[in-house]
Amino acid sequence: MDLYEALEKRRTIRDFSDKEVPDEVLRKILAAAFKAPTNDHLRQLEFVVVRDKARIAAILSPLAGNIEGFTRKNVEALAGVMDKDEYAMFTDAMPKQQKMLAQSGCLILPFFFHTGCPLLKPDNLSSLNYFASAWAAIENILLAATAEGLACALHIPIEQEAEHVKSLVAAPPHYEFPCFLAIGYAALGAHICKQKDIRVEDRIHHNRW
Ligand SMILES: Cc1cc2nc3c(=O)[nH]c(=O)nc-3n(C[C@H](O)[C@H](O)[C@H](O)COP(=O)(O)O)c2cc1C
Repeated sequence: MDLYEALEKRRTIRDFSDKEVPDEVLRKILAAAFKAPTNDHLRQLEFVVVRDKARIAAILSPLAGNIEGFTRKNVEALAGVMDKDEYAMFTDAMPKQQKMLAQSGCLILPFFFHTGCPLLKPDNLSSLNYFASAWAAIENILLAATAEGLACALHIPIEQEAEHVKSLVAAPPHYEFPCFLAIGYAALGAHICKQKDIRVEDRIHHNRW
């Protein structure tokens, strides 16, 4: 699959089959992370791969309560303020957050080295360089997974979820957890949210905005 085809085909899928992702394919996909640009040339990324169902359940255990609380508080209020495609995505995604991460049986927990000021209290834009590099690497993973015929879903940790993960996997100090990542084969008839139509010409400005 060429790069442009992978860009077109990469979509967030939140419904997985239970077909197992072979180890060698997973290795190839995760290797793509180390080809992304990196702020300090060091690519200090680590991945914890969890396939054991009970272990996955323990890692995801805080999600149900957190999502339920968030959904109850926010979903109706958001209907009035969100774009309609955004709202459709949101209402499909919210109830699936925990299930989608468990369903493929291949949960990836990425970690990136971060030092200097606390991640959530950056001094300036470059304090976020480690974080930005981690996301460049995650995008490479998503594209590589697509090229391998696989689907991905991600969830940004909320509330105590990141600390829970770090402590369960015994992550060393200075390593941050940007997102939960499920990789797997899409379920038959998996829902794909409508992607917002963008006219690229409208977004490119010549010489000034
Ligand atoms: C930074 C970032 C955070 C995201 N957080 C979540 C999330 O917490 N849960 C989720 O289901 N999807 C999450 N997504 C996936 C988006 O919902 C998805 O990319 C978007 O709806 C566009 O759909 P597409 O990926 O199919 O193009 C996130 C994506 C990005 C880039």
